[in-house]
Amino acid sequence: RVPVPALLQRPADAIARPQQASHPKIPLPCDLFAPDRRNSRGIEFGERTALDRLLADIRNETLDLKPVADATPDQADAAVAAVRAGFAAWSRTPAAARAASLEQAAHLLESRGAHFIALLQREGGKTLDDALSELREAADFCRYYAAQGRRLFGSETAMPGPTGESNVLGLRGRGVFVAISPWNFPLAIFLGQVTAALMAGNCVVAKPAEQTPRIAVEAVRLLHEAGIPADVLRLVTGDGRIGAVLTAQPDIAGVVFTGSTEVARAINRALAAKEGPIVPLIAETGGINAMIADATALPEQVADDVVTSAFRSAGQRCSALRLLFMQEDVADRIIEMIAGAAHELKIGDAGDVATHVGPVIDQEAKQRLDAHIARMKKEARLHFAGTAPEGCFVAPHIFELREAGQLTEEVFGPILHVVRYPAEEFGQVLAAIDRTGYGLTLGIHSRIDDTVEAIIDRVQVGNIYVNRNMIGAVVGVQPFGGNGLSGTGPKAGGPHYLARFATEQTVTINT
Ligand code: NAD
Ligand code: ALA
Repeated sequence: RVPVPALLQRPADAIARPQQASHPKIPLPCDLFAPDRRNSRGIEFGERTALDRLLADIRNETLDLKPVADATPDQADAAVAAVRAGFAAWSRTPAAARAASLEQAAHLLESRGAHFIALLQREGGKTLDDALSELREAADFCRYYAAQGRRLFGSETAMPGPTGESNVLGLRGRGVFVAISPWNFPLAIFLGQVTAALMAGNCVVAKPAEQTPRIAVEAVRLLHEAGIPADVLRLVTGDGRIGAVLTAQPDIAGVVFTGSTEVARAINRALAAKEGPIVPLIAETGGINAMIADATALPEQVADDVVTSAFRSAGQRCSALRLLFMQEDVADRIIEMIAGAAHELKIGDAGDVATHVGPVIDQEAKQRLDAHIARMKKEARLHFAGTAPEGCFVAPHIFELREAGQLTEEVFGPILHVVRYPAEEFGQVLAAIDRTGYGLTLGIHSRIDDTVEAIIDRVQVGNIYVNRNMIGAVVGVQPFGGNGLSGTGPKAGGPHYLARFATEQTVTINT
């Protein structure tokens, strides 16, 4: 057996993040778990480690976990009307003031870190390192969009023109944005969507996933406390039916959605069927994400990165690895190492710091994944099956497919599919990736620069990771989002995101 991969000490987590240097309240996972009791900046912990302190704080949190009532269609309509009334004042609020509220939200999130981590664990089933990363990402979104917003919305752009004429281009909010989010990043994606839309001068009605409404309730309270007026941001809870009520509303000016491709299509159809102005949709969806390991890859590194990419967060990341292509010369060695590493993973309660793979989100998800495993057992070769405790858990599995086309849809859990290819059929690997129609993330493990460049040149994939794992995009460092069936763009956490929430206005004055 190979040693357990350093899931909690991935270099990706330790990536230098200049924008985070000034707010050390959320420790990096690698700081907490550093075996030599030094953090990534070489600072020694005292007698009581940061981990001990954080765990005690989390334990001491009291959480309100009462069920959150679903909104009625009338309440959804009323929420749109309420924020519509707040739009005129909010769109005239200076960008600096809007940005200051987002920065205050980041500060509040950090100062209540233990509370949000406890909530993410209890309602979202997140392991400690996943909850920490998510909290950090949520605060990063607030600060990043504040900084970008000051730059984009803080002043207008003077355009050229003949003497005697001034031309100025400005950006402003569109109106009411509906923000619809998934359960797998119930804090970070929820806040990322909402803060981007607000920073661009829009009012927002936010509809979180039905599985994680409590986190959304608290995130909206925090934004109100940070200075976002109540008639600028409203929360509407409920399942897809209430989401559909919101997208059918005549008074909305835009929709930002993250979730499945199927639902993105349904929203797109609903918006297209409406009378009145054309309503833009920003959609970030799923993927059948691949990794390619050729004969020059380092098997130990591939195994470590595959286990992180496929099994961390119980595979419930849109970025997660689903399909590993291995050059046949190294395939047996790589499979053996991945299976060995997967065998060491601890599957169980998210609240236990030793857990690597926590629960899946609900029984429905478990049943879907169990059905896929049962089908794969008939149609593919099983290389590894972990053991999971009773409850909402799915153990990591590794199946070898005869051909990539056997995987026809995104399987949102800790199930890895592997395919071998002979070196001379490399072109078919790229064609198979194209044929999925998705284009979210891609991993490449190769030491041949020409191969890496050729792949990057050929594929239509939004985020490509070379010789490392392929999850955990960092805000402002790895702008995130896909192509084709994986979404419309622009990339979340990137410099072009906010502009898509805004409308442009050119003013020409004959002086
Ligand atoms: P989902 O599509 O089932 O639901 C997402 C949201 O849409 C929920 O709030 C849901 O209530 C709402 N919804 C459902 N039907 C609707 C309708 N007809 N009209 C309006 N709203 C409706 O997705 P999920 O199960 O919550 O999340 C998992 C999916 O999200 C996966 O496919 C994953 O790949 C994707 N995802 C993508 C990204 C990304 O950045 N690309 C990030 C996270 C998750
Ligand atoms: N942004 C998340 C990741 O990269 C989904 O894993």
